[in-house]
Amino acid sequence: MSAAVLDVYLTPADGVEALRSDARAGLTASPKDLPPKWFYDATGSELFELITKLPEYYPFEAEREILRDRAAEIAAASGAESLVELGSGSSEKTRLLLDALGAGGTLRRYLPLDVSEAALREAMDALSTEYPGLAVRGIVGDFTRHLDRIPAEGKRLLAFLGGTIGNLRPAERARFLRSARDALRPGEQLLLGTGLVIDPSVMVPAYDDDQGVTAEFNRNVLRVLNRELGADFVPDAFEHVAVWSDEREWIEMRLRARHPMTVRVPELGLEVPFAEGEEMRTETSAKFRRAGVAAELEAAGFDLTAWWTDRAERFAVSLATAV
Ligand code: AVJ
Repeated sequence: MSAAVLDVYLTPADGVEALRSDARAGLTASPKDLPPKWFYDATGSELFELITKLPEYYPFEAEREILRDRAAEIAAASGAESLVELGSGSSEKTRLLLDALGAGGTLRRYLPLDVSEAALREAMDALSTEYPGLAVRGIVGDFTRHLDRIPAEGKRLLAFLGGTIGNLRPAERARFLRSARDALRPGEQLLLGTGLVIDPSVMVPAYDDDQGVTAEFNRNVLRVLNRELGADFVPDAFEHVAVWSDEREWIEMRLRARHPMTVRVPELGLEVPFAEGEEMRTETSAKFRRAGVAAELEAAGFDLTAWWTDRAERFAVSLATAV
């Protein structure tokens, strides 16, 4: 039961329509290419939770270290009255921010935005109970489309954590940052988590763990296509691949066909041939450098106000102010 308000800008039907259109484009492209947003059904979200607990997946722990050590500084530098969180999966990190902003005495409102109404309700119910004085208003929406729907109540801090911005391609990233800037008033802020470019011998295993959890996460997108579009992918017929591109400075996850096959996708009227060894791209996870983050923020109309990293300098959290 929740007394909290929920604004819905995205229905499950919109989601299926978007999946159909992404799947049609991606499965008929050369090379084949699916957007990473489709990993996250209930199973995919659980697998991602498991990934965050793997010894190899350092970004989660590194960002938590920054928030744990710097939350008070972030709160002092921001003075936000409303915390807006994009993709509200990271509940523990949210609490670190809510506690610090609460202790700073400014916080009044928490506004999580997520594509999943179920995930949103769960997070909102827990937080409403734990933070009785906090007004909670959820937004069911897509952070690449609905930032203009965020209520303009109080001075806002828009938090986009986890390094998820790295899943956007450079042009999408520029569009996202501009829409974030357009959604804010001058002086309002963005709190951005980004993985940093480090040694590939550390980055690659984070996306190719020994237990094969990331491999199952990767193959889960095929199960989503089977369920939602009636496709007949055999997930085990695909091998998990993770590679670092020195040129693009991103980790690329792919699924490699172990043998030639034809996959039927009846709901799209498609028959999709795979050659032996053919690779389909399922995710790019870009890593960043400070100068690049500052330049991209500036191009979108933000100033880089503060930059914090974990002690090992594997991850950064940036505070950016709308100019
Ligand atoms: C949730 C997008 C931050 O790109 O590191 C984890 C997703 N992919 N392992 C990332 C992911 C493979 C993750 N983000």
